[in-house]
Amino acid sequence: MSIQAIAFDAYGTLFDVYSISELAERYFPGFGDALAQKWRTRQIDYTRLRTMCSMYKPFWEVTQDALVFVCRELKLELSLDAQNALMGQYARLQAFPENLDVLRRLRSDGLKLSILSNGTTPMLQSAVEAAGMHGLFSHLLSVESVRKFKTAPEAYQMGPDVFGVPAKNILFVSSNCWDACCATWFGYTTFWVNRLGAPLEELGVTPHGEGRTLQDLIEFVERNRG
Ligand code: LAC
Repeated sequence: MSIQAIAFDAYGTLFDVYSISELAERYFPGFGDALAQKWRTRQIDYTRLRTMCSMYKPFWEVTQDALVFVCRELKLELSLDAQNALMGQYARLQAFPENLDVLRRLRSDGLKLSILSNGTTPMLQSAVEAAGMHGLFSHLLSVESVRKFKTAPEAYQMGPDVFGVPAKNILFVSSNCWDACCATWFGYTTFWVNRLGAPLEELGVTPHGEGRTLQDLIEFVERNRG
């Protein structure tokens, strides 16, 4: 497969979107987990609807819209204070504990690393900074430059464009099975970080590698280095 560079999905893969449940629980006792789950689902739904209808809007705003909707759905009163706090936390989401060491290891092995995400550039910069990951990525690729969210081919195309190699020589890493599957369709070599032990999506496509944490990526990369 000859991997020459790696492109990471951000949310769910590097940064824990469900870690927000703790803060959500403080504002809405008894609803922290439900809010975090539904918020994420709605956020992704909105990215798909907006891309299908050519109605792009930055991921920050889509994320806020999803929060507003989900609070309405759960009949929770979303004060401006709660909204600002939850969105503020979204800009500094907790990273998964193993990530920093794995990224440093891959980097010191000479691999070029990037993020390829639906997030806006300021969101990605802020999350990377908060997680102490600055300097590890050569590119923070945001779909804002193509105004289409993943899984649009234009979004995935950013990887081959910046690295100057075919998609099959770039390893695309995501914990979102749909993202890993669609990146496989696009032509990337792919690795699914199946953190929750979820079943494979029924799409007739399977990511090339699978593990439970980012740590499992190391062995896959070593076997498939260019
Ligand atoms: C991202 C979302 C899909 O970072 O997790 O692009």
